[in-house]
Amino acid sequence: MLDRTVNIISTRPLLIADTLQRPLRDLRISVTDRCNLRCTYCMPREVFGKDFVFLPRAEILTFEEIERVAALFVQLGVQKIRLTGGEPLMRHGVEHLIEALARLTSGDGRPVEIALTTNGLMLSRKAQALKDAGLSRLTVSLDGLSEEIFQRMSDSTASVMTVLDGIAAAQALGFSPIKVNMVIKREVNDKEIIPMVRHFRDSGVVLRFIEYMDVGSTNGWRMDDVVTAREILERINSHYPLRQLDPNYQGEVAKRWSFVDGRGEIGVIASVTQTFCHECSRIRLSTDGKLYSCLFASDGVDLREPIRRNQDDTLLTRLIIDQWQHRADRYSQLRHEATTLPRRKIEMSYIGG
Ligand code: GTP
Ligand code: 5AD
Ligand code: SF4
Ligand code: SF4
Repeated sequence: MLDRTVNIISTRPLLIADTLQRPLRDLRISVTDRCNLRCTYCMPREVFGKDFVFLPRAEILTFEEIERVAALFVQLGVQKIRLTGGEPLMRHGVEHLIEALARLTSGDGRPVEIALTTNGLMLSRKAQALKDAGLSRLTVSLDGLSEEIFQRMSDSTASVMTVLDGIAAAQALGFSPIKVNMVIKREVNDKEIIPMVRHFRDSGVVLRFIEYMDVGSTNGWRMDDVVTAREILERINSHYPLRQLDPNYQGEVAKRWSFVDGRGEIGVIASVTQTFCHECSRIRLSTDGKLYSCLFASDGVDLREPIRRNQDDTLLTRLIIDQWQHRADRYSQLRHEATTLPRRKIEMSYIGG
């Protein structure tokens, strides 16, 4: 079945599809499982408190190991690599990894897009190094402008101003467009929707609203806490009339909207109520080198062990192709058919957002 791996050394990317005919396009790499915030929907402090044991250094993929895996994925048609965490800027020297990844080109010579999702707390300090390293795009998570609400969502004493300063520093260096991701939790930060729109709509930042998801097993998710995309759009539209835009690319998770007055763009990611599994071309590499073919998976394929046993690229590529070709994941679509769902899900801070 896997004789197609002979094509690995060819100069053209080898395109592979899963059982639902979805191509592999987007690799997300979690470079650390640590974070300097404790967002209640992602790393609740009751679980990720001072006694929580994060991965020891020896278990984390080195930059060289990540580069090696990433290069194989690019050969298999991956066009975008997103670095996530935890908080990726907490990984010491992450700019060196970006520099190496930014040099990757697909077999037909196209550069690979390198993106990064950060909570912005270390962005002022790091923006120049990220730019110099060749980072293509930045997404910053921010759940409100009110200090009190931000601190409640992130269960921290961090300041909104630090994040806004980070965004401004990145904009000044020419990162464009910067996206801001806002997860909405009912009666916690939904009253920040309109202030966030007002603040960002003339700033060149694309603000994206995300339905709160049942990812992982620790955040105590309840449907009652979800503000649906429909409701978010209705609320915004009643203040600032909207019209829908075409997607930027096939499989884009955000639905795009612009303001009728032409002043800015927003996105809505309806991961719960309008699922997008049918076009999902994403694979995730965890901090310790396991490959997960769905955000809601329970098990991954270990690449670290064969890498450290000095296995060659052909074997690693075979593992990747095999996993993707057998992939049938569509968790969000099946969410309501409770019997088919896995019991234990992987935490997003470990697998990458
Ligand atoms: P662009 O490259 O800018 O289009 O970014 P993106 O939309 O691919 O990435 P981003 O990491 O900003 O995704 C935003 C959020 O959408 C994530 O933090 C998740 O909450 C959600 N999301 C992204 N990918 C998936 C996915 O594969 N499944 C589900 N259920 N949610 C996802
Ligand atoms: N629901 C939706 N998005 C989440 N993220 C983390 N946890 C959740 C969740 N439960 C996403 C947010 C954040 C990124 C790092 O991960 O978009 O910005
Ligand atoms: Fe950290 Fe991002 Fe998770 Fe918040 S959502 S705890 S900033 S990794
Ligand atoms: Fe992809 Fe799984 Fe998310 Fe569906 S639930 S979009 S298959 S990662």
